[in-house]
Amino acid sequence: MQNDFLQLNKKNKTFPIKNLLSFGTAVLRKKKILKSRHEARLLMSKELKSNELFITLHDNLEISKEKKVFFLKNIYKRYCGKPISRIFGKREFYSRDFFINKFTLDPRPESEFLVDISLELISRIKKKNISVLDLGTGSGCLIISIILEAQKKLKKIINASGVDYCEKSVEVAKKNKKRFNLGGNLKFYKSNWFSNVKNKFDIIISNPPYIKSEDIEVLPDTVKLYDPLLALDGGINGLDSYQNIQKDVDKYLNNFGFLCLEVGDDQNEAVKKIFTNNSLRLFRQYSDYSGVVRNIVFQLGKKDLKK
Ligand SMILES: C[S@@+](CC[C@H](N)C(=O)[O-])C[C@H]1O[C@@H](n2cnc3c(N)ncnc32)[C@H](O)[C@@H]1O
Repeated sequence: MQNDFLQLNKKNKTFPIKNLLSFGTAVLRKKKILKSRHEARLLMSKELKSNELFITLHDNLEISKEKKVFFLKNIYKRYCGKPISRIFGKREFYSRDFFINKFTLDPRPESEFLVDISLELISRIKKKNISVLDLGTGSGCLIISIILEAQKKLKKIINASGVDYCEKSVEVAKKNKKRFNLGGNLKFYKSNWFSNVKNKFDIIISNPPYIKSEDIEVLPDTVKLYDPLLALDGGINGLDSYQNIQKDVDKYLNNFGFLCLEVGDDQNEAVKKIFTNNSLRLFRQYSDYSGVVRNIVFQLGKKDLKK
């Protein structure tokens, strides 16, 4: 590490990638960051607008002083605990890169399951054009993935809306819409759950804030310092969002339409109780690999669909 540091401190115009990488790796390792070499390479690939393979194969190249400074600044940010996705301003979700910023949740891999379930529901609906609403859309990663996958795999056209109470988050979702060249069949706008929603939908999805207020304090720093509170805090018992959504959901679902939710640990029974009123019935629930129910689907109307 000391050798690398001396190499990097020279008054040179260019600096060897190899030394920067081993110095960066050593710094991250000091913070006990797993896969520190991989992360150092990722941060270097950002500087070179390249990829890890290129960096590995060309670590004999040298980079400018400006790039060296940016790289070391990012190593420092990572050392201080900032997640890589927050440094990059991007997160991969369902094999696509989405812009994120401090106003949006950093999308979680487990939420990809909401996309899979939505596609399954879409494939059951015997219409070519299907309408989907995403409540609490954040970066828009869920609804954009659903539209693109439904087009690709099911040849279905999705007319969709994504709403969020956070205006800045809506701006990020719009940026992602542009990134994926999506047109008039997708609208993002501000809404306090259904307050600005005008239409009815075949499917409503939501990954709402569901963490108990008192648990926020004990979340890992990577979550509590970087994800917005509005995206996490589900009130005293973590169920506020579900209760608010339940008040109006049946007015915004087409008959036999589906409501597809992500739920937190141990919220399964409580959420089922909230939603199975006169008009909604439990359609199906989905557990993760450890057997914990993570997603629940309800259906409006009483008719059973053929399974
Ligand atoms: C857990 S995040 C989910 C974000 C995104 N759907 C995802 O899965 O990555 C919850 C989202 O709900 C939004 N939200 C919180 N309260 C809301 C409300 N009253 N009306 C609409 N959206 C709300 C937050 O701003 C946040 O973007």
